[in-house]
Amino acid sequence: MTGATSETTFRTAIVPAAGLGTRFLPTTKAVPKELLPVVDTPGIELVADEAAQAGASRMVIVTSPGKEAVADYFRDSPELEHALESKGKTELLARIRRAPGLLDVETALQEQALGLGHAVAQAEPNLTDDDAAVAVLLPDDLVLPTGVLSKMAEVRARHGGSVLCAFDIPKDRISPYGVFDVSDTDDGDVKRVHGMVEKPAPDEAPSTYAAAGRYLLDRAVFDALKRIGPGSGGELQLTDAVALLISEGHPVHVVVHRGGRHDLGNPGGFLRAAVDFALDDPEYGPALREWLTDRIGGTAD
Ligand code: G1P
Repeated sequence: MTGATSETTFRTAIVPAAGLGTRFLPTTKAVPKELLPVVDTPGIELVADEAAQAGASRMVIVTSPGKEAVADYFRDSPELEHALESKGKTELLARIRRAPGLLDVETALQEQALGLGHAVAQAEPNLTDDDAAVAVLLPDDLVLPTGVLSKMAEVRARHGGSVLCAFDIPKDRISPYGVFDVSDTDDGDVKRVHGMVEKPAPDEAPSTYAAAGRYLLDRAVFDALKRIGPGSGGELQLTDAVALLISEGHPVHVVVHRGGRHDLGNPGGFLRAAVDFALDDPEYGPALREWLTDRIGGTAD
């Protein structure tokens, strides 16, 4: 992170994981969607790994009653470790120790589903004086390849304020997102943000740059979150807190990510991510590719 100082970098990642997972019912009656496996690894481990790679040393999972399994996943399992150790299963042992070893995990509780802004606000009591900025990672979004958070930290070191990740999305598909009003900077991948609107109709979208689930937010966002009212969908929106900060002169930039993205928040997107990861997997990839080719060839006939 060239130029980053302890003032401008971050150590805490907030991961909102309190949602009901309605799009994955009936499975989410019993299993939180964040634990569904992308090949063999829960989506939230991929996100925790990304946060740790970018320098986070702790993760605050915002959870809701009944979703304790998400934080449990990051705890040690002494009995299982002992059983695997005594059978000499060293590779599996390393796999189950991986998540607890990534970073320190804490939880914050969101008792009512009042929106993403409300979820993030619940993590404020977990912060300390060292947290001048926090990263927020939405576990529904896989941003590939990883590394955008490090670039975002560089941009905060240079410009101050808050930095978000944007994807360029066709206008007719922009409505499910928070959308930025931007102007260019001297870096083609970095834009200055002048406003932000949550879930606009396509003809009201200020640009085709949409928020993609990665935020590096100045601590000032927690004060803004206390001053917003219900927005899109009647919920307290993180977008509205960012928009309020911008209107008060707080610098906000986006890093435009030119890579890929998977939406793990619905079965169709999840399946695509799983197939994408499985095709690259040395154990499952070759057989899956062969089967898929046959399967698709068969359907086309
Ligand atoms: C949330 C944010 C939105 C952002 C999106 C990215 O929306 O509110 O601004 O663009 O995540 O996935 P949600 O998907 O929770 O409706």
